Amino acid sequence: MTKRILLIVSGGIAAYKSLELVRLLRKRGLAVRAVLTESAEKFVTPLSLGVLTEDHVYGDMFDLKEEREIGHIQLSRQADLVVVAPATANILAKMASGIADDLATTLLLATDKTVLVVPAMNVRMWHHAATQRNIARLHADGVHVMEPDSGEMACGEFGKGRLPDPEAIAGRVEALLARPRADDPLSGQPDFEGPDASLAGRHVLVTAGPTHEPIDPVRYIANRSSGKQGFAIAAAAVRAGARVTLVAGPVHLPTPAGVARVDVQTAREMLAAVEAALPADAAIMVAAVADWRTADASGQKIKKDGLGKPTPLSLVENPDILATLGKHEKRPALLVGFAAETEKVAEHAQSKLTRKGADWIVANDVSGDVMGGERNSVHIISSTGIESWEDLPKDAVASRLIEKVAHALSPRTD
Ligand code: C5P
Repeated sequence: MTKRILLIVSGGIAAYKSLELVRLLRKRGLAVRAVLTESAEKFVTPLSLGVLTEDHVYGDMFDLKEEREIGHIQLSRQADLVVVAPATANILAKMASGIADDLATTLLLATDKTVLVVPAMNVRMWHHAATQRNIARLHADGVHVMEPDSGEMACGEFGKGRLPDPEAIAGRVEALLARPRADDPLSGQPDFEGPDASLAGRHVLVTAGPTHEPIDPVRYIANRSSGKQGFAIAAAAVRAGARVTLVAGPVHLPTPAGVARVDVQTAREMLAAVEAALPADAAIMVAAVADWRTADASGQKIKKDGLGKPTPLSLVENPDILATLGKHEKRPALLVGFAAETEKVAEHAQSKLTRKGADWIVANDVSGDVMGGERNSVHIISSTGIESWEDLPKDAVASRLIEKVAHALSPRTD
C-alpha cells in the first residue's frame, strides 16, 4: 500500500526546497500531503506544492469547510510519517512547548505518528541555547531530528543551519518508513540509528577530549585525545532521550545536536564544570585528563637562556575528576570511567575501578591508532566481571555503551 507523508513546511528561506523534496518523495512512490504555515506561504505557494503533491494544500486551521470535511485530528493521523521540513527555530520552540496556535502546530500536537523534523535556520539561531534546549526536549519526546548541514547561508553567514540536501531527507524518510512500527512511536522511542533503550528524563554527563595545561602563554602540556569517542557517546545519549551535558576539552569537533556543551581547557576547569553540572544520573568520563600540570605556569613566554640549559619544568598532579565523583556527595547513580592503556589493559582497568570508585571502567588499548582514529576495541570491567566487545566504529561503541547505561539505570530508582 502506498505510504503517506504529511509534510509540514514552515517559513524560512529554505522552504522553496520543499518542492524538490516533494518531487523526490513522489519519485519514491510516496503520497505527500502538504501543510504550509502562514509564513511559509511567503516563500512557496500552495499552488506549486499542490501541483507537485496532486493534492489539496492545507494552511488555515480556521477554514471551517476544511475542518468539517477533514478534521485536523484525522489529517494528522492519516499519514504514516509526519515530516517538518524546513523546521524553523520558531516551530521547533512551539513543538517543544506543546503550543498549538495554527494548523501545523495543532497537527503536530494531535498526531500519534512518528515525527521527523529537519531544522534549517541561521547559524546563531541554531546554536542559541534556547534552540538547543528545544532540540534536546524534542529528542526526549521521541521526535527524530535531522542534523542541519554546515556551509554558507542565505544570509551570508557561514556555519551550521542549512537544510540538508533533499536527497538526504528523502533517504531518511525512507529509512524511517522501513523501520518496524513501534506501538507508540511518540513515547520516547530512540532515534533510528540510536540505541535500543530509553534515557528519557535522565541527565547524562560526559567529559571528552584532552586537557591543555599551560606552561606559559604559548605552550602547554597535552595528549593525543581527539574527543571523538566522548562526542559520539554524548550524541548517542541524546538519541536515547537523555538531557546531556558535555564538558569538552580543547577539540575541533562540532557539538552534537541537542547537547549542552561546556568548553574547558585545563583539568581544574574540567573538574569545576563537572561539579557544576551535577546532579546527573550517569557520568561517563571519557576525557583524557592530563595527569600533571606545571607547578606555576609562567605569565611570560619562557626564553632560552643562550647557554643551552633548558628551564626545568616542575609538575604537580592534577585533581582526579573521576575519583572525585566516586566519593562525591552528589555521586551519579552510575559512574563510568575510561582507561586508555598500552599494556596489561584489563589488569590496570580492574585496579582503577576500585581506586576511583567507579561502577564500570571501559578499557581500551591505545597502543594502535585509537587516539584520533575512528574505531575502538573495548573491554567493560565491572564488579561482576569483564565484557569484551569486538573492534567497532566509535559511533557503534557509543550506541552500545549508552544502551548498557540505559539498562543499568532502569527501572528508575528515584
Ligand atoms: O588514571 P587514568 O588517567 O588512566 O584514568 C582514566 C579515567 O580517569 C578516565 O575516565 C579519565 O576521564 C579519568 N581521569 C580523571 N581525572 C584525571 C585523570 C583521569 O577524571 N586527573
